[in-house]
Amino acid sequence: KKRMLSGIQPSGDLHLGNYLGAIKNWSDRVNDYDCFYFMADLHTITVRQNPADLRKRSINQLAQYIACGLDPEQNTLFLQSHVPEHAQLAWVLNCYTMFGELQRMTQFKDKSSKHKDNINAGLFTYPVLMAADILLYQPDYVPVGEDQKQHVEICRDIAQRFNSIYGDVFKVPEPLIAKTGARIYGLNTPGDKMSKSNPDGCVFIMDDPDTIARKFKKAITDSDTENCVRYDKENKPGVANLMNIYSTVTGKTFEEIEKEFDGLGYGKFKPAVGEAVIEHLRPIREESERLIKDKAYLNDVYMQGAEKAGYIAMKTLRKVYKKVGFYQLT
Ligand code: TYM
Repeated sequence: KKRMLSGIQPSGDLHLGNYLGAIKNWSDRVNDYDCFYFMADLHTITVRQNPADLRKRSINQLAQYIACGLDPEQNTLFLQSHVPEHAQLAWVLNCYTMFGELQRMTQFKDKSSKHKDNINAGLFTYPVLMAADILLYQPDYVPVGEDQKQHVEICRDIAQRFNSIYGDVFKVPEPLIAKTGARIYGLNTPGDKMSKSNPDGCVFIMDDPDTIARKFKKAITDSDTENCVRYDKENKPGVANLMNIYSTVTGKTFEEIEKEFDGLGYGKFKPAVGEAVIEHLRPIREESERLIKDKAYLNDVYMQGAEKAGYIAMKTLRKVYKKVGFYQLT
């Protein structure tokens, strides 16, 4: 079986962008791959976190992964900080990554302009830790949303550079970007990706049905007076975003959607998208609420995940240490 690996930062509650861009893409494929999914808690502290909140989200996010269909029996689910090899390999890879390469990362440019008071070294070397996350497990594919593509590409460059010096140490992975859902925009900001920093335009997977309905009712469609559900990303980005969401949760094509709402206008379309999302998320929310109460079970999943992941990570790290010339005792 081919291997997949991906992660999400527990820096906020999971939202529809994370779900449609990443998790749904993971859970649709669990049977065909050997899968590793983790919570990237090490990455979150590049921005200041409230420790109690981070701790709580790190366990809640596990419940949500499982509720989204990632069965811990079939998938290795773990917390990044439970496997020390991530930080250890990141150090080695730091020495095989160029300053200029990191300076060109769009996410660094973005975040360093937003958090001017805290442009720390971790924020700068963030993609190296992400490369370590990936390369430790030798996956074939890394399923992510579009905004993470550049990070998977630098990971490939680092792996190739290392391999060209030391032989075939790392498998060079491919990003796997979903056909629909790879870039979900904020409901009230069709030009910006959906993100937790704009909660009004962001649907969280734990939002209750009324909240979701309200957010969709207020979604921005477009400024023309056409009032017609038609896919036109350039001129009608708000409508295109809603169609993309509707298509991803229902499996309907854009053509089918245009037909379904022919002559009905946005007044019918927006609540229908909201309704489809509510129904899609309902079982996930209910199952998460149930699982969150069972801390013993969740801890057990984390323990087993760390053990399985740690074993593979340890083997890769040993190989790397040997290649670069660290003296080993065995
Ligand atoms: P993060 O935590 O920002 O996002 C997690 C996943 O959700 C996707 N995503 C979106 N997809 C579509 N539309 C959106 N509006 C949207 N917002 C987020 C992201 O593309 C991502 O797939 N650096 C990573 C976490 C990470 C990682 C890794 C991923 C750390 N190590 C190793 C893969 C492999 C991040 O910050 O994603």
